[in-house]
Amino acid sequence: MKRIGILTSGGDCQGLNASIRGVAKSLYEEFGNDVEIYGIKDGYKGLIFGEYKLMKPEDFSGILTLGGTILGTSRQPFKTMCLPMPEFGGKTKLDMMLENYRKYKFDCLVILGGNGTQKTANLLREEGLNVVSLPKTIDNDVWGTDMTFGFHSSVEIATNVLDCIHTTATSHGRIFCVEIMGHKVGWLPLYAGIAGGADVILLPEIPYDIDKIAKTLDNRIANGKKFSILAVAEGALSKEEAAMKKKDFKKARAEMKYPSIVYRLADELASRVDNEIRVCVPGHFQRGGSPCAYDRVLSTRFGAAAARLIREKNYGNMVGLVNGKIVPVPLSEVAGKLKTVPVDCEEILAAREIGISFGD
Ligand code: F6P
Repeated sequence: MKRIGILTSGGDCQGLNASIRGVAKSLYEEFGNDVEIYGIKDGYKGLIFGEYKLMKPEDFSGILTLGGTILGTSRQPFKTMCLPMPEFGGKTKLDMMLENYRKYKFDCLVILGGNGTQKTANLLREEGLNVVSLPKTIDNDVWGTDMTFGFHSSVEIATNVLDCIHTTATSHGRIFCVEIMGHKVGWLPLYAGIAGGADVILLPEIPYDIDKIAKTLDNRIANGKKFSILAVAEGALSKEEAAMKKKDFKKARAEMKYPSIVYRLADELASRVDNEIRVCVPGHFQRGGSPCAYDRVLSTRFGAAAARLIREKNYGNMVGLVNGKIVPVPLSEVAGKLKTVPVDCEEILAAREIGISFGD
């Protein structure tokens, strides 16, 4: 009898349930009554504190289109994994996860998550556990895969926001600064910005010059276009900030009087541009609702591939999409790396060619 534990960790996104379903259905197809799947509650937290339950095949039915995760999730930062916890006799979270894995006699853990999650999955692998992982996140920033599930669904939502904002922006002749998720990388604002017809796209990878943005907006006004749409990454930063030491940057941001960067940007533009400016923050809407068709297919492919790796006992890998094919990617290579947007990628070049400004 195979005992497989499955968990989802980090921020939720569309396609988690579709992926869980893909893993489970493939495992039942392959092993029939010879497999037990244990749902671990709230990500690594459930593995640390021993909260899990034996799932039934019917638990995985009817969840293809369901947003969120039926297993629950939580953020358990990697840096906390090896810290002794006095309230647990000095044990670390890692100690407790290893203990529980052995106590429950798991044959393998299936771990669905983003960058931090993959790092911890690799730590478990280094400690000798059998681990197979799947790349999830709306940010599409997991190294080793061309695509994560959740990204395309989120692009649809953020694009829809930009479409809706367009009607108000044009009717009122206003400038709208729309904040799109993505702290460290800008795939989501880049794709949504292009798809939603943004005039300016600001990414963490391309620090902006506020005066250049103001000039772009002024030029549009001079050309009779009273409205403008800015797709602003959550992690957008100015050229001055990019030149700072990491420590100074963090301090400056902690002391910033605005709730997030898009408000500061709007304020800075207000004194430079002669037009009404509004801010829109769709926030966690971008992670909600049903996965789009693309993500349902990708999740199913990833899920089936994860089950295949278990069948082949090919542990220690994440499943990734590389040049259109699903392949195993060693967790040792994935852990600790970010897939940022190359500043000369085709999407950026095409956007520049049609006149979209990146504020640089
Ligand atoms: O990693 C996904 C993501 O939505 C990022 O785009 C965003 O910066 C972050 O999570 C928000 O995290 P939380 O849900 O903890 O506020």
